[in-house]
Amino acid sequence: MIKGKKIVLGITGSIAAYKAAVLARALIKKGAEVQIVITPAGKEFITPLTLSTITSKPVISEFFARRDGTWHSHVDLGLWADAMVIAPATASTIGKMANGIADNMLITTYLSMKAPVFVAPAMDLDMYAHPSTQKNLDTLKSYGNVIIEPAEGELASHLVGKGRMEEPEKIVEVLENFFTEGMDLKGKKIMITAGPTYEKIDPVRFIGNYSSGKMGYALAECCAERGAEVILVSGPVSITEKHPNIRKISVESAEEMYQAAVREFTGSDAAILCAAVADFTPESQSEQKIKREKEDLVLRLKPTHDIAAALGKLKKENQIMVGFALETNDEVEHAKDKLERKNLDFIVLNSLNDKGAGFRHDTNKITIIDKNSVTEFPLKDKKEVAADIINHLAEIL
Ligand code: C5P
Repeated sequence: MIKGKKIVLGITGSIAAYKAAVLARALIKKGAEVQIVITPAGKEFITPLTLSTITSKPVISEFFARRDGTWHSHVDLGLWADAMVIAPATASTIGKMANGIADNMLITTYLSMKAPVFVAPAMDLDMYAHPSTQKNLDTLKSYGNVIIEPAEGELASHLVGKGRMEEPEKIVEVLENFFTEGMDLKGKKIMITAGPTYEKIDPVRFIGNYSSGKMGYALAECCAERGAEVILVSGPVSITEKHPNIRKISVESAEEMYQAAVREFTGSDAAILCAAVADFTPESQSEQKIKREKEDLVLRLKPTHDIAAALGKLKKENQIMVGFALETNDEVEHAKDKLERKNLDFIVLNSLNDKGAGFRHDTNKITIIDKNSVTEFPLKDKKEVAADIINHLAEIL
């Protein structure tokens, strides 16, 4: 599970810094990409040359390269990494992390870090036991950082006690568990429809809707991050998918989305129907651009396939289907009716009456309705909303 992961390895000024070379090597052997950030004191214990030879990447220590003035962006590192591990972490570094004292590249990187942070303390037993160190470690825990407790044994001072940095194999194990834990959808194939459909009137005009695809794409990323193979059947949107486990099929009309969805549903463990599919399409399309005239223009529309209802009929016992309902009135009742009618396992309701919810927003406020329960969630970022929906799906799967 470490394969392909991007890991920032922070090294500070402790004798255990020599073990960081072994840790870097073990991570690289498992297929990780490792970027080392070392404090000035760390360099007293282990040379950057040793470390850069192991990782095949220049070691970062200063805010910029003195030779040519190249800026080392801690912000970019914070966005790049899947995890940051600080091993060994000295009492001084732990204190600075807890209090935001950003006087070196490692601490600025830590403060910019978007990924989970693991801290492996290394120090003498009395320093470790000191209330100040313990208070700082508690503060780091309250920030959500994971402390990899030091082991007991002989220390550099020849005293015996708790303070030895945990062995590199153990640190790798902690990371491995962390990366596997979130992979509850591994081996599952999930099809997701997203975005609007465009129903062509003539070569330049169409009937569309305000769907941005943001919710469907957030669901796709969330499923892929949790190990699923995702087929994203997407209408025209201006956003792109990022995760390599997402295979996108771009479609335009409701008919094209129907064809792709029916084809891809076979062999899928679940389908999430998040697209805002047109319910009607022009009966015929003009081959030429329709010209302005004095009279009214009448467009005759015919109904499209209800993709959800069609898949609901094809659905096998081991397949799960999730639908969406965007309502403006009698929301829960309408949603419950759709749940039944379309043979869904659960339906995600969002109401246009809620501020910040629905089309084009980055946030959404949902209610998950299944046969036995109605669960309301507060207004959240669409990414967090996706996690709530996928948690519900993962439980059923
Ligand atoms: O009936 P209504 O369009 O409100 O139902 C919404 C649910 O049905 C959504 O999950 C939507 O993706 C799906 N749907 C569909 N095909 C249609 C219309 C809606 O799959 N033609």
